[in-house]
Amino acid sequence: MEEKVIDKSEVVIKLENLTRNFGNLKAVDNVNLEVCKGETIGLVGPNGAGKTTTIKMIAKILRPTSGRILINTNHHKLEDLQKVSRTISNMGFLIDIPNFYDMTAYQLLRYFANLQNYPKDKIDARIDELLDLFKLEDWKWEKVKTFSKGMTQKLGIIQSILHDPDIIILDEPQTGLDPAARIEIRSYIRELQSLGKTIFVASHMLYEISEVCDKIALINHGSIIGFDTVENLARALRTNELNCTLLDPIALNELDPILTRLTEKLNPYLEQNLDPNISKIPIKYNPERQGLKIYYDGRNKSKGEILKILIKEFESDFTVISYIQPRSSQLERVYLEMIADDALKIKINQNGVLEKNEK
Ligand SMILES: Nc1ncnc2c1ncn2[C@@H]1O[C@H](COP(=O)(O)OP(=O)(O)OP(=O)(O)O)[C@@H](O)[C@H]1O
Ligand SMILES: [Mg+2]
Repeated sequence: MEEKVIDKSEVVIKLENLTRNFGNLKAVDNVNLEVCKGETIGLVGPNGAGKTTTIKMIAKILRPTSGRILINTNHHKLEDLQKVSRTISNMGFLIDIPNFYDMTAYQLLRYFANLQNYPKDKIDARIDELLDLFKLEDWKWEKVKTFSKGMTQKLGIIQSILHDPDIIILDEPQTGLDPAARIEIRSYIRELQSLGKTIFVASHMLYEISEVCDKIALINHGSIIGFDTVENLARALRTNELNCTLLDPIALNELDPILTRLTEKLNPYLEQNLDPNISKIPIKYNPERQGLKIYYDGRNKSKGEILKILIKEFESDFTVISYIQPRSSQLERVYLEMIADDALKIKINQNGVLEKNEK
């Protein structure tokens, strides 16, 4: 296939002061955002943040209370969405978990292709092509109600791209999928990227989606609280701090030699360019909290090594009973609240074995 040359500076979706109220609730509050051609943008926020409401306005299912949406139709100029025809043929949507009744996969896709006025003589070939791509070819004649959640979700994605739109908008494409299926969905998103598509994808899982996105828009309570490349956000989000709580306090007369030894042993994993505004020393002891604060290099592997050393080599000095990464920056606090379920919390059980605290 020919690689498309894409001008990534051409804006194809522009949200201008976009606002949607439900009674007193500002579900989407003055959102400004630009999506360029060929970009993959993630709209990431917790439940109720306003992601679906934003997408429904782009799909013209909901009307904005104020502000507007500009869309680059095929004429390379931005037009007010309210003024373009009702069916926007260069966009495809996956919104909500599709409910596909009593049809076979083929019947269902044919039905959607007809809705989109896809050329009748090409429909069958197009359906076969996509069922192949998503590895559903053996299910073409099976009833959709017998499909697993993951297969139904894939069918929903096929439905959204059936008419070969340039802009694809996916609301939580990984909902209800197991880790393997979520990885698969990511590989399909990559597939669409290689075809030069512009993709706008909403998710409440930052890590999940950041891998395939060029930029992430963080949304909370209807407002965009950050919009940047994944690298820049990651820099702002990265925690380089570990807090370990100890079973018993360290006696004051033992503190200095212990800290010296700790600094020596943990040195390869510590933050080497520690900002003096944050701290002058990489390891601190807080007697009130019976806690050790360690500024490390931010690598996952280092975290593991640090913990191993604390447990094995300082066994006779103290016992670490829990280990957390604190919420330091504003952005990170919101982000961690979003992904509270995934927040890193490791505990050591009574037998001295590491346990990941699931909740
Ligand atoms: N039709 C509606 N009527 C009243 N309130 C609504 C309506 N649709 C959404 N809301 C409210 O607007 C807010 C934003 O909802 P929205 O569905 O956009 O969030 P979301 O980011 O998609 O969340 P989720 O991750 O749960 O899908 C929520 O507080 C929700 O309760
Ligand atoms: Mg939603």
